[in-house]
Amino acid sequence: MAGKAAVIGAGFYGSTTALRLAEFDLFDEVVLTDIRDGWSEGLALDLNSSRPIIGFETQLTGKTTTPDGQGYEVIEGSDVVIITAGLPRKPGMSRMDLLEVNAKIVRGVAEKVAAFAPDAVVIVVSNPLDEMTRLAQIATGFPHARVMGQAGMLDTARFSFFVAEKLGIPVRDVTTLTLGSHGDTMVPIPSACSVRIDGAARPLAAALSSADIEALVKRTRAGGAEVLALLKTGSAYYAPSAAAAAMAKAVATDSGEVMPVCAWVTGQYGITDVYLGVEAKLGKSGVVEIVERSLTDDEVTQLHEAAEAVRAKSEDVVAM
Ligand code: APR
Repeated sequence: MAGKAAVIGAGFYGSTTALRLAEFDLFDEVVLTDIRDGWSEGLALDLNSSRPIIGFETQLTGKTTTPDGQGYEVIEGSDVVIITAGLPRKPGMSRMDLLEVNAKIVRGVAEKVAAFAPDAVVIVVSNPLDEMTRLAQIATGFPHARVMGQAGMLDTARFSFFVAEKLGIPVRDVTTLTLGSHGDTMVPIPSACSVRIDGAARPLAAALSSADIEALVKRTRAGGAEVLALLKTGSAYYAPSAAAAAMAKAVATDSGEVMPVCAWVTGQYGITDVYLGVEAKLGKSGVVEIVERSLTDDEVTQLHEAAEAVRAKSEDVVAM
C-alpha cells in the first residue's frame, strides 16, 4: 500500500476518481470531501461497502467541509490531492465561461490544501483547466513541480478512441498525442501518432486520409462538448477520472511514467513560465522532468499560440 490520496469535490468527477483510486487497492486511505452536507460521508460508506465484493482494502473516508476550512483536517498527510471542486459546463457553455465562478472555488480549496496537506502533490481537474492549475499553484504557494493539471491524458485518450473506432481496430493498437491547452487551442500532434495494423506500426497518415485525420482532430477538440450535449445536465467523468487516477497512481508509485499533463514549462519548445499541456515524467515529487520531443514547425507554432492564450487568461484569473 502506498499512502494517502484525497479528492476534493465529490461530484461526478470526484466520486468516480475516488472509486478508481480505491479499486487500484494501492492506497491505505482515499479521502473524499465536499461542501454538500453528508454527501461525502454517504459516498464513502457506499464505496466501503463495495470492498468485500470487489476485494480491495483501501479505506474510504468521507468528510463534509465548510468554506472556512472545517473538516479539512481529514486530508492531513495526503501524498496526493486531486482538486475536482467547481461547476461543470452546461450545454452551450465553453470551459472559459466557468472561469470566474471556479476561480473562487479553486482558490479557496487550494489555500486549505496548502494549510492541511503542505507536502502533497496536487492534481487539478476543475475547468478551465490550465488557468485553474496556475491559480492553484499560486494559492498553495507550492513549487510548480508539485502542482499539475489533468487534460492531456484525457484528450489523448479521446483521440485514440476515435481513431480506433474509425479504423475498427483495438484501442491498444493506437498511439496518439495531444499537447497545448484543454480547449480551443488543444494541439494534436500527428507526427507522434501511429497505428498498428496487421502487426506493423504505421504513421497515422498512412492509415487515414488527411480529411479523416482533420475530422478526428476536430472531434477530439470538441470531445468534452460532444458528451455534454448528450448528457445535458453535466459533463464527462468516466474518461476524465480514469486520466486523473492514472496520474495520481504514477505519483504515488513514483513510476516515472511519461504522460501528457498540464505542467509548468521553463523554456521547453521555446516557451517559458506558463502552465501548458506537455509530456512529463511523473514521480513522488510531482513533475520530475518535462520531456521534449521533436515536433514539426507547425506543431511548435500551434503550441506557442496555445501558450500565449493560456498566459493571457491566467493573468486575468490571477488578478481576480
Ligand atoms: N469545496 C468542496 N467541494 C465543492 C466546493 C468547495 N468549495 N464547491 C463546489 N464543490 C463541489 C460541489 O458540491 C459538487 O459536489 O464540487 C462538486 C462538483 O461536482 P459536479 O457538479 O458533479 O461536477 P463534475 O462533473 O464532478 O465536475 C467537476 O471538473 O471537469 C471539471 O468542468 C468540470 O469544473 C468541473 C469539475
